[in-house]
Amino acid sequence: TPYWLFGRNIVFPYLAPVLAAWLSTAGAGAYQYLAVRRRWRQAEADKSRYQQAMHFVTHEMRTPLTAIQGSSELIARYKLSEEKRRQIAELIHSESRRLARMIETFLSVERLAAGQVDLKRELFQADEVVAACAERARPLAERKRIRLRVEPVTNGALLGDRELMEYAIYNLLSNAIKYSPPDTEVRVTGTRRGEQVAIAVRDQGFGMDRDELRHIFRKFYRTKRAEASGEKGTGIGLAIVQEIVKQHGGSIEVESEPGKGSCFTVLLPAASEARAALPQS
Ligand SMILES: Nc1ncnc2c1ncn2[C@@H]1O[C@H](COP(=O)(O)OP(=O)(O)OP(=O)(O)O)[C@@H](O)[C@H]1O
Ligand SMILES: [Mg+2]
Repeated sequence: TPYWLFGRNIVFPYLAPVLAAWLSTAGAGAYQYLAVRRRWRQAEADKSRYQQAMHFVTHEMRTPLTAIQGSSELIARYKLSEEKRRQIAELIHSESRRLARMIETFLSVERLAAGQVDLKRELFQADEVVAACAERARPLAERKRIRLRVEPVTNGALLGDRELMEYAIYNLLSNAIKYSPPDTEVRVTGTRRGEQVAIAVRDQGFGMDRDELRHIFRKFYRTKRAEASGEKGTGIGLAIVQEIVKQHGGSIEVESEPGKGSCFTVLLPAASEARAALPQS
C-alpha cells in the first residue's frame, strides 16, 4: 500500500520533485493569468477613455460649433442691419467661449484622472470652502427662489487643494439648485464623523431613480429629467467632483428619491493631526 511505501521512504523522494514541478506550473499559470488580466483591464480602460474622447469631439463639441458656423455664414452671406450683426457677433463670441470652456474642463478631468495635476497640500477649513461656494451660488438660488441654508461646520480642518475642493462643492451646490423647482430649500451641512469630515448638500429637487444613480458619475451622462428641465449642462461636473474627491482620499455617497430630492455627501479625511503639528501663528 502507499502507506507502506511511504513509511519506508520509497515514495517520498519521488513525490517531492513532482510536487515542486506541479506547484511551479500552477504558479506560472496563475501569474500568467494575472498578467493577462491586468493588460486586458488596461486595454479596456484605454478603450473607454478613447470612446469618451470621441464622444466629446463628435457629440459635445458639435452644438456650439454648429451655432458658430451658421452665424458666421449668415454674416458673410446676407446684408444685415447693424443691430442684427451685433447680435450674431455676440452669439459667436459666447458660443466660442462655451466651446473653450468645455475643452478646458474636459482636459482638466483627463489630467486629474491621469494624476497629472499636482494637488496642493494646504490646510484649510471646510467652513471657508462651503461659505465661498454658497456666496457664488446665491444669485443662482435667488433667481429660482430657492432658499439656501448653510450651517456652520465645526472642527472641519482639511488638508488638500482648496481651489479644487471649492470647485467640487460648488458643482454639487449648483446641481442641487439646477435640479430643484422654485420655492424649495437647499441645505449644506458639515459634520465630523470620526476621522472624517462629511459635507452634505441636500435638495428637495426632482431626484433620481436607482437606474439613473448608477450612471451619474459617468462623463456626459444626464438624466431625462435633467434634459427635460431645460437646465444647461454637459454632464461632466460629477465626473470631475468624483475625481477630485478621490484624489483627496475621500468618497461620495448619494441618496436620492424621484420627486423627493437628493443628498450628496462628500467624505474627506480630517486634517486634525496635521493642524496640531503645524506651528501656531
Ligand atoms: N441634485 C441633483 N438632483 C437631481 N439630479 C441630479 C442632481 N445632481 C446631478 N443630477 C443628475 O446627474 C447628471 C450629471 O450631473 P453633472 O453635474 O455631472 O452634469 P450636469 O449638471 O448635467 O452638467 P455640468 O457638466 O454642467 O455639471 C445631471 O445631468 C442630472 O441628471
Ligand atoms: Mg453639474
